[in-house]
Amino acid sequence: MLNRLQNVQDDQWVDWVDSLADNDYVVIDDFLDDSLYRAVRSFFLKKLGHDEFDPAGIGALADHHLDKSRRGDHVYWLDSSVDLELTDVFVVIRELIDKLNRFCYLGIADFESHLAYYPKGTFYEKHVDQFKGRNNRLISMIIYLNEGWKPGDGGELKLYLGNREKLIEPLAKRIVLFKSDVLPHEVMTTHVGRYSLTGWLLKNPADLGFLLG
Ligand code: OGA
Ligand code: NI
Repeated sequence: MLNRLQNVQDDQWVDWVDSLADNDYVVIDDFLDDSLYRAVRSFFLKKLGHDEFDPAGIGALADHHLDKSRRGDHVYWLDSSVDLELTDVFVVIRELIDKLNRFCYLGIADFESHLAYYPKGTFYEKHVDQFKGRNNRLISMIIYLNEGWKPGDGGELKLYLGNREKLIEPLAKRIVLFKSDVLPHEVMTTHVGRYSLTGWLLKNPADLGFLLG
């Protein structure tokens, strides 16, 4: 068996998808099994050790600029044809997409993803995951890689759900999915290095996004 998703029954998928449809988000714990988690985390630490992360920008194309007062993370964009050590995790993301399309009729065509590293003391201010002039992001997906995270470490994801706010702890192996275009959110200041794999499920192929957006 490649991963634990293959053991998940259809009615469990229906519950998750209903929750995403009704609440605009869903949190799934232990989304990654242990071996997959180890593979992603060691890949992350290797890339970080080789200094292959870049400061993240705000906005797309002409809008793109760096602003540390708005977001302090560093990112490494993933490419499934290059980052072969992560092949199994790309397979799992494609399985997730298949399930969402089957149970939610979302019409997801592709995804884009990066590793995100928030050094101690950084955050990402309140925002929505759609860039001006580009609307191909359907679902935001964050897989957390923070082993031993504990209250006080900070770096929670805060979702703004109409009249209430929801804090999500960035626990190892957990995935959170939310609707990219409707849900304002922020990353609270982290007091320890914070690791994640962040992706966006797209309605058009990734390389056509700018043309069709
Ligand atoms: C983002 C983002 C949330 C998180 O990268 O756009 O909001 O919990 N990330 O890392
Ligand atoms: Ni975001």
